[in-house]
Amino acid sequence: MALTGLALLGFVLVHMLGNLHLYDGPWETHEYAETLRDLGTEVIPRTWVLWALRFGLIAAFALHIHSAYSLTRMSRAADRRYPGGRDYIAANYASRTMRWTGPLVGLFVVYHLADLTWGHFNPDYVRGDPYHNVVASLSNLPVAIWYIVANVALATHIYHGAWSMFQSLGINSPRWNPLRRRFAQAFAAVILVGNLSFPILVQAGVIDDGGRSVVREHQEQLDGAAGEALGALGSAP
Ligand code: HEM
Repeated sequence: MALTGLALLGFVLVHMLGNLHLYDGPWETHEYAETLRDLGTEVIPRTWVLWALRFGLIAAFALHIHSAYSLTRMSRAADRRYPGGRDYIAANYASRTMRWTGPLVGLFVVYHLADLTWGHFNPDYVRGDPYHNVVASLSNLPVAIWYIVANVALATHIYHGAWSMFQSLGINSPRWNPLRRRFAQAFAAVILVGNLSFPILVQAGVIDDGGRSVVREHQEQLDGAAGEALGALGSAP
């Protein structure tokens, strides 16, 4: 659980930092996405590195869910030995909510992929224009609220996950525990502030493209220029 959790924490941090390109503007965000697709092209074909990372991510998600399921079954079996019910002495709010924040985040990821990667829920999806797609989705108030709720659940999950990860890795002593707690709080807070800023600032109109897609317009210009060049060739004597 700890190792897959570590990989997922790494992804969540890198993804949030990458999304800060939304503050640079539409074209810069598009170029950032293209850079990810171009990783390793000096040596291997385009998108292969990205796909290797995606497979690693899918494996980490799958193993993480499997460990969570096994842990829940063990915990339920232990519960049955205490018919009087549990008295939570060491568990705090975040640790007791792991079993619903986890599935909620899982549900969010499925929705999020269908929305921003596959474009199923996005009213004006343009392939290769993440800035435009984020604005088109998050300018819808219920969608923005769903993103906010899911990211609060994610931060709660991360807070307990980052804390207990060290325990699973054998780091649990009065000397290190205050540092562990501060690390977990700081990590969860950074992810929360970064991720909440996107729906809030789209709603506030700070991240906005006025419904225009720079990528679509660029493609139309290229198509127009190609059409003119072909026309000129056709009319040449
Ligand atoms: C408000 C916060 C977020 C924003 C604005 C955002 C934005 C995006 C965008 C624009 C894409 C599509 C990139 C592309 O295909 O060009 C994407 C993909 C993705 N996002 Fe997010 N995201 C957010 C939060 C999250 C969270 C919290 C998670 C996971 C817990 C997550 C997981 C993913 C995954 C797994 C992908 C697919 C990556 C790939 O295709 O390589 N995102 N996100």
